[in-house]
Amino acid sequence: MLNVGIVGLGFMGRTHLKAWQELGTEARVAAVCESNPDAIAGIGVAAGNLEKDPSSATLEGVEVYNDFGEMIEQADLDAVSITLPTHMHPQFTVSALEKGLHVLCEKPMALTLESCDRMIEAASKAGRTLMVAHCIRFWPEYVWLKHAIDTRAYGEVRVADFYRLGTAPGWGDASWFSDPGKSGGVTMDLHIHDVDFVRYVFGAPRDVNVEGACFENGCPGHVRTSFNYGDGRLVSATGSWMMAESCGFRMGYRVICDSATIEFDSQEEEPLRVYNAGEDVVQPELPEGDGYTGEVRHFAELISGSNQEPVITCEDARESVSLSLSIQERT
Ligand SMILES: NC(=O)c1ccc[n+]([C@@H]2O[C@H](COP(=O)([O-])OP(=O)(O)OC[C@H]3O[C@@H](n4cnc5c(N)ncnc54)[C@H](O)[C@@H]3O)[C@@H](O)[C@H]2O)c1
Repeated sequence: MLNVGIVGLGFMGRTHLKAWQELGTEARVAAVCESNPDAIAGIGVAAGNLEKDPSSATLEGVEVYNDFGEMIEQADLDAVSITLPTHMHPQFTVSALEKGLHVLCEKPMALTLESCDRMIEAASKAGRTLMVAHCIRFWPEYVWLKHAIDTRAYGEVRVADFYRLGTAPGWGDASWFSDPGKSGGVTMDLHIHDVDFVRYVFGAPRDVNVEGACFENGCPGHVRTSFNYGDGRLVSATGSWMMAESCGFRMGYRVICDSATIEFDSQEEEPLRVYNAGEDVVQPELPEGDGYTGEVRHFAELISGSNQEPVITCEDARESVSLSLSIQERT
């Protein structure tokens, strides 16, 4: 059984806690580290953007620390989930790897390429797995879409538009999200999910065109990227923190293939629909679970020595940071 620690028990920390606990007998969360006592008590922990309620996770039987150095020194751990504010990912990831622990680090990997390189080097030196938690690569509707595209189940893709729309994150301590030096802003924090998925499915684009809109205070809040593949295909993604609060959060895509149009919208009652030629509309069956349980299971399998290709390497995660940084520069 794997012994796991979690550092940063905010929205994503609780989400990882729940996902690890759902793995059952393969792993147990042995320790958590959180510097804010209110967060330990679960005070002020709101549901994040997908209204996945992580509050059913329990700290029963889990050692609680407020200092990360103490946790990795004293607790008997194989791996840690790093669910801290983004600017803290590099330092904590490197410390954990140097201690000989495997690391599952939340996205985005880091806010600079130099930091990504430091993290990759530390993993390689330590001979440990570093996986960046790009949950969309594990999200059932996106896993299904990648398979449909790879197998050309509906012919070639002609148009693919992805979106991720909500208000600026208001859960937990909102101040770090609104500081671009800590979160990277809407492009690095939100849009990167679709940037990474577009790269995963279609590969690196030749070039990107970027348009953006700002909040009243001049901070970028909405970004629209067109990915140019030089072959006539239209691929785009839109990320927004500027929606009215009453809209809630939605993510989705519309993909037009030769023989079907596929639509996914997380807010719809029937979220995934395949419109075939004629009047035939199909709702594909998807496996249970979400991207969080999927990514945690995959990471657990990798570090337990299962012989499978990683769904995401740390070099991949670095490339998504790199492309997102170049989009951010043009926003
Ligand atoms: N994959 C996704 O869908 C998704 C969704 C939201 C956030 N994220 C990412 O997850 C990360 C965390 O985001 P969040 O929404 O959980 O933020 P959050 O503010 O809710 O949680 C961060 C927690 O870290 C704690 N913390 C800060 N410094 C600490 C320290 N030195 N030691 C211990 N704990 C400390 C804070 O008190 C807070 O409870 C970010 O990188 C964010 O981009 C990913």
